[in-house]
Parts: sequence; structure tokens; C-alpha cells
Amino acid sequence: MTGGGDCPGLNAAIRAAVRYGDEQLAVSFVGFRDGWRGVLDGDARELAIDDVRGILPQGGTILGTSGTQPHRVERGVDRVRAALDDHHLDGFVVIGGEGTIGATSIVGVPAVGVPKTIDNDVRGTDASIGFTTAAQIATDLIDRLYSTAESHNRVMVCEVMGRHAGWIGWTAGVATAADVIAVPEHPFDIDLVCRRIRGVLAVRRPFAIVVVSEGATPIEGTLDMPVYPLDENGFPKLGGIGAVVAEAIGRTTGFETRVTVLGHVQRGGSPCAFDRVLATRLARAAVDEAVAGRWGSVVGMHGDEVITTPIDEVAAGSRVVPESLWSIPEVVCT
Ligand code: F6P
Repeated sequence: MTGGGDCPGLNAAIRAAVRYGDEQLAVSFVGFRDGWRGVLDGDARELAIDDVRGILPQGGTILGTSGTQPHRVERGVDRVRAALDDHHLDGFVVIGGEGTIGATSIVGVPAVGVPKTIDNDVRGTDASIGFTTAAQIATDLIDRLYSTAESHNRVMVCEVMGRHAGWIGWTAGVATAADVIAVPEHPFDIDLVCRRIRGVLAVRRPFAIVVVSEGATPIEGTLDMPVYPLDENGFPKLGGIGAVVAEAIGRTTGFETRVTVLGHVQRGGSPCAFDRVLATRLARAAVDEAVAGRWGSVVGMHGDEVITTPIDEVAAGSRVVPESLWSIPEVVCT
């Protein structure tokens, strides 16, 4: 199954698991639709080689996805256990991010996790499927803001995804030489942001580029935060901090300022080569773990090696941008 937000590379992972398992290990697969929702509702289909032909470069997921977490649903854990018998399964290969892998660890059924998320915040791997593509999309789009910023002598604020971890903002910000990068790992100082922008326009060039992760927060009490609605699991649906920052910069500095929210375009479309290879290697490794009966782990990459980490360890927290990376001058919290 694929759970949580979609990302480029999910189909490459599904295809690799089925091709490898079916062709080389004589394993049969059932694909559940929409993540844990499909398991709870018995919404499943057989998955054989013919079903995954040609999907490697396609964005999205042929199985669909959802944020459903079985332990938050009535009798959810029992229904997941029942699905094992109903579909004659040994266990689950769960391609998911923090929420889906966390739910898998709570449910406690035989499962191997495969980390995917553009946020790159899953522990136990150097990179999650989808992140590298998303960071490149954000980089390409921020590059495009330069010419329009320069033509109008404006400050351009670009809001990117990144709930608890600022990997997309940090990577795309460094890759585009952004003047300011605000990440969720540390509260930003709006006065310092404005001072830095004034400095850029005074000595460097007549425009500035600011990258803000959606999960970035100002030092408490300095700015009015957006009011976030809650999703089905009670977590805030982020979006809007870029506009708050842009308004404050415009008001404080007097420079003309615009905001661009990249949003879901960061998750759409075809995976880059790195994510295709990562998805292929991790999915094959997950099938190896399952066939060997080594349930309860998450596969990941460390350098060139595939590693496994106990699922409870992975579920215990997020993989955030370390201080050694965010303590650079462009990151406003320093
Ligand atoms: O978890 C990945 C992510 O892209 C987050 O950065 C973002 O907050 C969230 O998904 C938004 O997802 P959706 O709009 O599908 O709820």
C-alpha cells in the first residue's frame, strides 16, 4: 500500500516490489487502495507484473493513497488483523511517511516500511523517496522567480512544503542562493529578516529572494500566525506563513514584496533518476525482508548501502535538518 501524501517515485517502488517478488521470488501481491483505508474496507486488487508495466516514470500512485490511520478508526486494529486472513497475507509492505509508518508501528502487524515523503523527515534513511525530485522542482521554480524579481526590483517570498523539517526549503534555498531561508527547526526573527533584506538591497542587488518552509514559525509573539484548519487526524493543514512574512517585510522595509506558494506542484509529476533508483532499491530490499520473515523494520539508504531500522525507532521522531546545516548566515535564526 501507499499511504500519506503522494510523491514522485511511488509507482517506481510498487513496480520494483512486484517485478522482483513475482518474477524472481514467486511472491504474490495484493495492492490495497488508498493506504490503510483500503485495508480497513477490504478494497484490494491483485497486483501482477502486467499491472505494473510502464509505471516506473509515472508520478502519483496507481494504488491511490490516504492519511487514514487504523488506530484512530473504530475497531481499526482488529480490522487490519482480519485483513491478513481475509487476503491470505504474510504481512504488509507499507510505502509511507511519518504518519503512515507511525500508524504501522502502533498497529503492530507484520510489516516492512519503505520511506517516502517529499519532506524527507523519516528517520533511518539518508533520503526518502520523492524528496530529491521535490527539491529540484522547488529549485527550478525559485530560479524562475529571480528574473521577475529583478525586473521589478521586488522582494519575492516563496513558501515551500516542509511540515517539521525544512529539507526542501534548505536545499532549494541554498541551491538558488536565496538571501533568507526560514525552516521549521528554529524560530525565525522577523527583524533580522528585514535587516538582512535591507542589506541585500543596499549593497548586493536591487531585489531579494526569501524561502520559507510552510512549517516555519516566528519567534513567539512577533507575528500573527495563520489559523490552520485541522485534517482528519487532527493535525494542522499548513499554508500561509509565506504571506505573513511577505506582509511583514513589505510593511517594515517599504520594499515591494510578493508571495508565491509552490504547494502541491512540488509533489506532482515524474520522479528524477535518483528517486527512481532509490525507490527500486528500497522496494526490492523490503521484499527481501518480508520473504525472510524479518517484519517490523523500515528499509533505508545510508551512503550506498541499504540498511534496516526497527520501525519503533523510526516512528519515535522526525529526521530534521541538523543545526550544523541550518546554522549558516542565510538561515535567519542564526
Ligand atoms: O507530508 C508531506 C506534505 O507535503 C507536507 O509538507 C504538507 O504539509 C502536506 O504534505 C500537505 O498534504 P495534503 O495537502 O495532501 O494534506
